[in-house]
Amino acid sequence: MSRATRTLTILGLESSCDDTAAAVVRHSPSARPAILSSVVAGQTELHAAFGGVVPEIAARAHVEKLDLCVEAALEQAGLSLADIDAVAVTAGPGLIGGVLSGVMCAKGIAAGAGIPLIGVNHLAGHALTPRLTDQIAFPYLMLLVSGGHCQFLIVRGNDSFQRLGGTIDDAPGEAFDKTAKLLGLGQPGGPAVEAEAKGGDETRFAFPRPLLDRPGCDMSFSGLKTALLRARDQVIDEQGGLRGQDRADLCASFQAAVRDLLAEKSRRALAVYTQDNPAEANFAVAGGVAANQAIREALTTAAQEADAGFLAPPLALCTDNAAMIAWAGLEAFRDGKSADMTLGARPRWPLDTAQPALLGSGKKGAKA
Ligand code: KG4
Ligand code: ZN
Repeated sequence: MSRATRTLTILGLESSCDDTAAAVVRHSPSARPAILSSVVAGQTELHAAFGGVVPEIAARAHVEKLDLCVEAALEQAGLSLADIDAVAVTAGPGLIGGVLSGVMCAKGIAAGAGIPLIGVNHLAGHALTPRLTDQIAFPYLMLLVSGGHCQFLIVRGNDSFQRLGGTIDDAPGEAFDKTAKLLGLGQPGGPAVEAEAKGGDETRFAFPRPLLDRPGCDMSFSGLKTALLRARDQVIDEQGGLRGQDRADLCASFQAAVRDLLAEKSRRALAVYTQDNPAEANFAVAGGVAANQAIREALTTAAQEADAGFLAPPLALCTDNAAMIAWAGLEAFRDGKSADMTLGARPRWPLDTAQPALLGSGKKGAKA
């Protein structure tokens, strides 16, 4: 039976940042895709003392963990390598040492088991996740909002992406992480800032909403961090220190600025998208920042206003994982694509190559 119609079982590997992950996904064209296993080994504690991901430490940890994750993923799926049709691996973009570790591991598996190898773009993994979780049809609008990336994409096919806009500097997750650092909160910063913000007054500090005065869907987050630093120092100067309520108010005001910015730019992206695709109006989010409740609610409202469906995959599939890589690999493999032993690891790999490179597309943030 041909690849296009038979049941496929794909092993996926992910190691582009600070999560080592392996997963097995199975799909037959007449049924919903099934995630048979999804194993993620995080490295948060390894990097905790450094206030950010240290690429060399990350790469070494991936080398140590990849085979264990593969073993665990196969065991949880109740399968052996003999049951796997192909191995898919993140071949970029990301921290090069980590990507290389994954690509080399996948090549070893492909050669050893005599199965095809598929190189997957990590961003495509995020962008195709709503098809794994909700089987939505192409096209749809996607906001990818994570620790290293922030962009609006029209997803037209598993290898066809049009970028409508993106951050020109920091990614929002990075801004959350830096905010947490400036306020003495733990990493990752997003959940810590969100928790603090719950008890805060979002109107106390008037943080900027950068680029709202300019047309288009590009975004900027680096000015927010500077504004937060100034506000923090002013409070400290005036009061001789930072009280708990000050911290909560700073977090709430910062989160409100990110929320408003993402919501307004989403409205604009939806307007552009629905003009060309009125019949298939679906708006999906992915990436760690999509876990933020206030942001999720604002995006839901923006979608409702545009008469678009709103999809947010479960949190474990919003953040980095290997099920999304297995799925993106499966879609490519069905289309007859695969790689060979010359597959390279790419630190940069934009999804929409027709557009000029984004300054903020992961250059400053390690994560994607
Ligand atoms: O998608 P992810 O796990 O990794 C990549 O960036 O690929 O996203 C991690 C980012 C971190 O910057 C983290 O602070 C942010 O997502 N994040 C959040 C929340 N949970 C995670 N940001 C805001 N609110 C949250 N609840
Ligand atoms: Zn990612």
